[in-house]
Amino acid sequence: MINDNQLEEIKTTLEQHIQALDLKGKPSELYDPITYLMGLGGKRIRPLLTLLAYNLYKEDYQKVLSPAAGIEVFHNFTLMHDDIMDNAPLRRGKATVHEKWDDNTAILSGDVMLVKAYHLFLSIAPEHLKESLQLFSKTAAEVCEGQQLDMNYEKREFVSEAEYLNMIRLKTAVLLGFSLQLGAVLAGASKEDASHLYDFGMNIGIAFQLKDDLLDVYADKEKFGKQVGGDILANKKTYLLVKANELATGPASESLKKWLNAEAYNPEEKVKAVTALYDELKIKEKTMELMDDYFEKGFNQLSSLQVKNTNGLQLLQNLTHNLANREK
Ligand code: IPE
Ligand code: IPE
Ligand code: MG
Ligand code: MG
Ligand code: MG
Repeated sequence: MINDNQLEEIKTTLEQHIQALDLKGKPSELYDPITYLMGLGGKRIRPLLTLLAYNLYKEDYQKVLSPAAGIEVFHNFTLMHDDIMDNAPLRRGKATVHEKWDDNTAILSGDVMLVKAYHLFLSIAPEHLKESLQLFSKTAAEVCEGQQLDMNYEKREFVSEAEYLNMIRLKTAVLLGFSLQLGAVLAGASKEDASHLYDFGMNIGIAFQLKDDLLDVYADKEKFGKQVGGDILANKKTYLLVKANELATGPASESLKKWLNAEAYNPEEKVKAVTALYDELKIKEKTMELMDDYFEKGFNQLSSLQVKNTNGLQLLQNLTHNLANREK
């Protein structure tokens, strides 16, 4: 398919740009973890969304590779800190930075990545720079707000579906929304289109985190690249747990409570038992239903765009389909 080739070409150009970024420096203890984490790959969804949104209006997407890469550096900064917070051993199939080095290294390398991300935005044309930085700063603060709610909720027994959705909107969806919005802003698109693209990103971002929650329990260990069951071990209030808490009655509810409050336990046993409860309550199916609803809502936003670049829209749709069907 011609579109698939185009998507591959954009992906390759982006990857080459990311690999060529100047992220080295001294002392090496500060910079080596950055090269390590960025070099482990990843889907590069966020910068791709920026390029594809820009591409709806203009063909010369090469001009905005640097800010797009800045978003990827920012995302990797959040992952480096997230893995400390989540006590995660694996990322993209390799040891996390805090495991390979230590917590302090991951904190400080992450800090300098945030600075580098801002630096990459400086290549933005003067007429778009201020707006881009304002939107980015707002988004970055929201991601931290979402991450704090995620931490707060680990300690809470009951979290409502609305609270959960607000938490993932902040920690995950706003960055996808911003990535698309930035592409529109840089291409000089109308305010309305930029806003529809933001809403598209918000909806597929929520769907994306629902899929992330699902994979954390049901992924194939060989393909996933992260620890399967990590969310269960951390008592993360994922959609799966929020829903199970809501639906479980009688012995299932007792058992869930017991595992959530257990202090000494065999980790494998806990993951197995909680997964069995999810299975019993058909949580996987329910999560997929909600995920599909959000992908659908996102797609509907695309039809409100003024732009009628059907080829460009097809590329965005292809990428989104890949997200829905991903295994990692
Ligand atoms: C992981 O993001 C963190 C979430 C917000 C779910 P990705 O699934 O995009 O991770 P990489 O960059 O592809 O490794
Ligand atoms: C992470 O959510 C969101 C951010 C990094 C901001 P998760 O904690 O679920 O992401 P993974 O599963 O570790 O990639
Ligand atoms: Mg995590
Ligand atoms: Mg987390
Ligand atoms: Mg996760």
